[in-house]
Amino acid sequence: MSTESPKPLPTLVLEATAFTEAQLLHPLLPQVALAGRSNVGKSSLINALAGRKNLAKTSATPGKTRSINYYRIEPGPGYIVDLPGYGYAQCSQAERRKWAVLLEHYLSGTPGLTALVLLLDSRVTPQKADRELAAFAAARALPLIPVLTKADKCSKKELNACKRAWSVLLPEELLVTSSQKRTGMEELWSALQSMLSRV
Ligand code: GTP
Ligand code: MG
Repeated sequence: MSTESPKPLPTLVLEATAFTEAQLLHPLLPQVALAGRSNVGKSSLINALAGRKNLAKTSATPGKTRSINYYRIEPGPGYIVDLPGYGYAQCSQAERRKWAVLLEHYLSGTPGLTALVLLLDSRVTPQKADRELAAFAAARALPLIPVLTKADKCSKKELNACKRAWSVLLPEELLVTSSQKRTGMEELWSALQSMLSRV
C-alpha cells in the first residue's frame, strides 16, 4: 500500500471578465468552458472546483452571470471559463440576444477551446436548448463532458432516471456532482485535465 498522501486538487484564480466580443481573451493556453441553462449551477461548480466559497458569484435568481469569466488553473497550464447561462426567460429579448451573440462568438472563435462541460440539472428532464448545445459541440468535433449538477437534491432513483434519459441522447459518460457537498470534484478535475493536456 502506498504511503503517499493524495495530490491536492488545483485551484482557480479569476483572471479576466468579458462583456463584449472585443473583451474576449485569446490566451495561448488551452481552456475548457462550463455551459448550461441559467441557474443550473455553473458558478457554484467553479467555487466547488476551486475549493472556495465566493470566487464566482452565485444566486438563486437565474441570470446572475452576465459575462464570460476566465479562471486560470493553479497550478496550470490552462483556463476554466464560466459562461452566462442560456434559456433565461425573464430578461429582455435584446439582452438575451446580446448574450447569445457573445456566446456564439466565444464558442466559434476560441481556437484554444478543448472541451465543453455541459451542465445538466439532475432534477430536470432533457431540454431542447441542452440538446442543441450538445449537437453544436458534436458538429464541431468539440469533446463534451456532460455533468449532472445538484445531485444532493434528488434521490438515487431520480438520479438514475435522469442518467438513463441522457444516456439515450449522449454517447459520453455522465459525471454526477454536487457543488454543495463537493461530490464528484476529483473525477471532474481528472476529466478536465485530460482534456486540457490533449493540445
Ligand atoms: P447563471 O449565472 O444565472 O447562469 O446561473 P449558474 O448556472 O451560474 O447557477 P449558480 O451557480 O448561480 O446556482 C444557482 C442556484 O443553485 C444557487 O442558489 C445555488 O446555491 C444553487 N446550487 C448550485 N449548485 C448546487 C448544488 O450542488 N446543490 C444545491 N443544493 N444547490 C446548488
Ligand atoms: Mg453563473
